[in-house]
Amino acid sequence: MSQTSCFPRRTFLKASAALTAGALFNPLAQAANERRTVIIDCDPGQDDAIAILFALGARDRLDLRALTAVAGNVPLNLTERNARIVRDWAGQTKTLPVYAGCPRPLMRPLITAANVHGKTGLEGVELHEPLAPVAQQHAVAYLVETLKAAPPHSVTICAIGPLTNLAAALTEAPEIREGLREIVLMGGAFFERGNITPAAEFNIYVDPEAASIVFASGVPIVVLPRDVAVKAPITPARIAPFRAIGNRCGAIVADIMAAEVKYQKGRRGAEEAPMYDPTAAGYLVDPSLFKGRMVNVVVETTGQWTLGETVVDWSGHSGRAPNATWITDVDADAFYAALRASIATLP
Ligand code: BDR
Ligand code: CA
Repeated sequence: MSQTSCFPRRTFLKASAALTAGALFNPLAQAANERRTVIIDCDPGQDDAIAILFALGARDRLDLRALTAVAGNVPLNLTERNARIVRDWAGQTKTLPVYAGCPRPLMRPLITAANVHGKTGLEGVELHEPLAPVAQQHAVAYLVETLKAAPPHSVTICAIGPLTNLAAALTEAPEIREGLREIVLMGGAFFERGNITPAAEFNIYVDPEAASIVFASGVPIVVLPRDVAVKAPITPARIAPFRAIGNRCGAIVADIMAAEVKYQKGRRGAEEAPMYDPTAAGYLVDPSLFKGRMVNVVVETTGQWTLGETVVDWSGHSGRAPNATWITDVDADAFYAALRASIATLP
């Protein structure tokens, strides 16, 4: 899979066209209440770590099969390492495989967010040497093999980093769409401004071509954008109950959240931070906590000032068919209660 990091523009155009032509959009999918089979594609990342723990604690709702790591918040050697550290925290060293994927975006150099997440990617907590190695197989090969073998529309991908791994898998084997139930992703911004540029949110901006391929794939997509992240802010009052649980993971979650709030306070003066990736896990645990609308979403891949912008056709001007459910609202207190309940089940 080493070629996935070198993706000529004509391959990107061909991939987008082929995926659009075969669109499978199936918004009815399955009952929202069914226990989901999930793979988390991530770039841990402080908030990724909380999202993974959220999913791992919600065993009654989610059957989490693997973590696939991608370069994003920090380089791949750190994101895959951090994923292994997080599974250790949850006591899942032997049961949850971690696969390392693409080391850089499809067509661009990697931009990281080490200024936010710290040099290690997990600023705010003490890190140990991971207890077990990364899986041998490349994450993209794992996704292709697993989704090809999966029963139709059975696997949910929860994507909380740049979409490079997923786009590479969809390009290499478009038929894997059949195995996908849905893609639930954290990314994008529309009613809220961007966080890496005025127009773009980080996960989409880092690899806009990958995001464009995913949005054109025809797979049902649920988007947890910045619009909803800012409606469930992390505050000191919301951190305290996690420390009060008295377990290891509760303390870790509280420490990470406190580091996120500290960063935002230094930057903007406000003692609160947006709640990003855990909203995607929260949606999987309890979709009824969220509200959104089915819309058409395209990704800007050429704009001089707007690269990585998610262009959401909220009012239906374009006539393009809806390809995603764009989440705008969350019951924030119920979300934090669900997160706490989940973390309380962990070591
Ligand atoms: C997203 O960017 C990353 O820094 C976070 O982990 C999250 O996935 C928020 O824009
Ligand atoms: Ca992330």
